[in-house]
Amino acid sequence: MSSTWGEKVKISIFGGSHTQAIGVVMDGLPAGESIDMNEILKQMARRAPGKDKTSTSRKENDEPQILSGLLDGVLTGAPLCAIIANTNQHSKDYSGLKVTPRPGHADYTASIRYNGANDIRGGGHFSGRLTACLVFAGAVCRQILQRKGVHIGAHVYSIGGCFDTPLDPVGVTDEQLNDLSSCYFPTVSPAAETAMRTLIEEKRSALDSIGGIVECAVTGVPAGIGDPMFGGVENVLAHILYGIPAVKGVEFGDGFAAAQYCGSENNDAFYYDDDGTVRTRTNHCGGILGGITTGMPVIFRAAFKPTPSIARTQETVNLQTGKNDTLSIVGRHDPCVVPRAVPVVEAAAAIALLDLLS
Ligand SMILES: Cc1cc2nc3c(=O)[nH]c(=O)nc-3n(C[C@H](O)[C@H](O)[C@H](O)COP(=O)(O)O)c2cc1C
Repeated sequence: MSSTWGEKVKISIFGGSHTQAIGVVMDGLPAGESIDMNEILKQMARRAPGKDKTSTSRKENDEPQILSGLLDGVLTGAPLCAIIANTNQHSKDYSGLKVTPRPGHADYTASIRYNGANDIRGGGHFSGRLTACLVFAGAVCRQILQRKGVHIGAHVYSIGGCFDTPLDPVGVTDEQLNDLSSCYFPTVSPAAETAMRTLIEEKRSALDSIGGIVECAVTGVPAGIGDPMFGGVENVLAHILYGIPAVKGVEFGDGFAAAQYCGSENNDAFYYDDDGTVRTRTNHCGGILGGITTGMPVIFRAAFKPTPSIARTQETVNLQTGKNDTLSIVGRHDPCVVPRAVPVVEAAAAIALLDLLS
């Protein structure tokens, strides 16, 4: 398994949904930075399940315990290690999945890759629960970035065919991002949130699930950050974002839509603002040209597939009998992972940006 990420700021995530604990070790953090535990807990609470019907009814205690690297609220420079105890396991819900793998989940591929030795309970190391570790690490990085004037916020851009108002790629403000990053179900338009919640509830009642897109913006990143060809800002962000379970697409700026434009529509015209700073009139490129930041907001979107574990009966194979079979999944699952994934996307962006700016 490769659960270690980063060049200058490195994170290593361990554990599984039903192990004693999950955790993260962070290396390369700047010594002397103070870290506010309350801010970390606020971010972790946004990801924690059981808040309403858009998420699983599982109650998980997402209280991190810091084992090393923080003394009297200040980073010591030694590796920062935090664990989060697993306290709500129902292992019996998963016992059959080694035989009849869940369509859309990693049960089948993991059992091939690890010769059946993988821990299947609750999805093991593939569980969305592991994203609690990302949120912890991101909440640490976010505090350091904020002192450098870098602000990160994301919203639920879409659920199925329901869309929110996009962020303004030129005019998005630090305040707007800070507001979004303190909400559980952040949207720009309150009407969009209502429609999205209704759609998630419809899918849940129909024993189904639904996917969606998270849009994220970062302000305050200076021009000139990024190391192309392979260490560009797009490369670094995409690398960590694809580590989030259920992410199936990442796009920067106008992304795939830009393939339909003419150059005259897509090019972002440069101009000097009143302070003599180079800015662009539009921001189709998402604040990145040649893998290097322009100084405009960095904008990207991550597409999440529908939750694979659905209660509806599905076709699968029986790896014991070698015959075709069916499966009705029991257990507690998110009808839509997107609202809980918003703080995870912000956290991944914070870790990536601190790595790039270190
Ligand atoms: C916050 C979050 C919560 C998730 N919760 C569930 C869940 O309850 N049930 C489930 O089957 N998948 C859930 N997933 C998605 C699976 O972990 C993921 O689809 C699976 O590991 C297969 O990986 P892949 O989709 O990246 O291919 C969740 C993902 C995230 C980000």
